[in-house]
Amino acid sequence: MIADSDSWWHRYKSIGAIAVFHVDLIPDQGREAEALSWLDGEERSRWQRFQSPVAQRRYVLCRAALRAVLCRQLGCPNESLAFEAAKHGKPFALVNGQPASISFNVSHSGNHGLIAVAAKGRLGVDVEEREPRRNLENLIEGVFSPHEKAELESLEGCQQLHKFFRFWTIKEALVKAHGKGLSMKVAELEIPEDMRHGAAKSICQFAQIPETSWCLEDMGTREFAAAIAYEVSP
Ligand SMILES: CC(C)(COP(=O)(O)OP(=O)(O)OC[C@H]1O[C@@H](n2cnc3c(N)ncnc32)[C@H](O)[C@@H]1OP(=O)(O)O)[C@@H](O)C(=O)NCCC(=O)NCCS
Repeated sequence: MIADSDSWWHRYKSIGAIAVFHVDLIPDQGREAEALSWLDGEERSRWQRFQSPVAQRRYVLCRAALRAVLCRQLGCPNESLAFEAAKHGKPFALVNGQPASISFNVSHSGNHGLIAVAAKGRLGVDVEEREPRRNLENLIEGVFSPHEKAELESLEGCQQLHKFFRFWTIKEALVKAHGKGLSMKVAELEIPEDMRHGAAKSICQFAQIPETSWCLEDMGTREFAAAIAYEVSP
């Protein structure tokens, strides 16, 4: 694998014991070829099945970066690392066929990927480029709680789009941390009031997941909206 200085990912943020890496997804044939050579047979078959070069690029650059990050954290060679998916699709890592003691999550959008890694605890990450969305009203209707909807509907244009992506990434990070994805009733996972009104992070519980406290944290920048959600130990 290549030296860190040449890599297309870099450590972007530390949140307590969680390391967050940014993955540069701009088109680069050299990087894509290098990344593809690190993937195992199953991952290469998946790469081949993607319909568009954009989806292929996102997948291969993020998956290879994930491999590099996990190999370093786990102290294992790339060849010993493999991935499987849990019931709702959340990937987990295996080293020499045994589940590895590490927690991670990946997200990609446009030219940006994010990888969050920690030794333990469920976590989820989401990144979204703030591209205007068709059917924004329908998305707002289906995904947000009455309080969230009221706040979004009180805004227009860029301000509405900005808040939409802030709310969306926070919720998406939470459902990804939990692992059930869209099988959860996302409209009922209401973002806490302090965070809806601008707080950068909040610790909260949800009736659908009563056993766990979660920390939600906004990681958005001028370039993209992003959020992380992670379990808080009692
Ligand atoms: C995978 C899912 C959880 C997120 O999809 P997405 O936002 O399109 O994609 P992201 O780039 O953020 O994340 C994709 C990565 O998440 C990981 N992932 C897949 N299923 C997952 C799951 N159930 N839980 C957590 N992570 C998952 C994978 O690593 C995947 O990347 P890879 O295929 O390259 O390895 C999707 O099933 C989903 O639920 N989408 C919800 C979309 C939506 O309508 N959200 C409403 C706001 S909550």
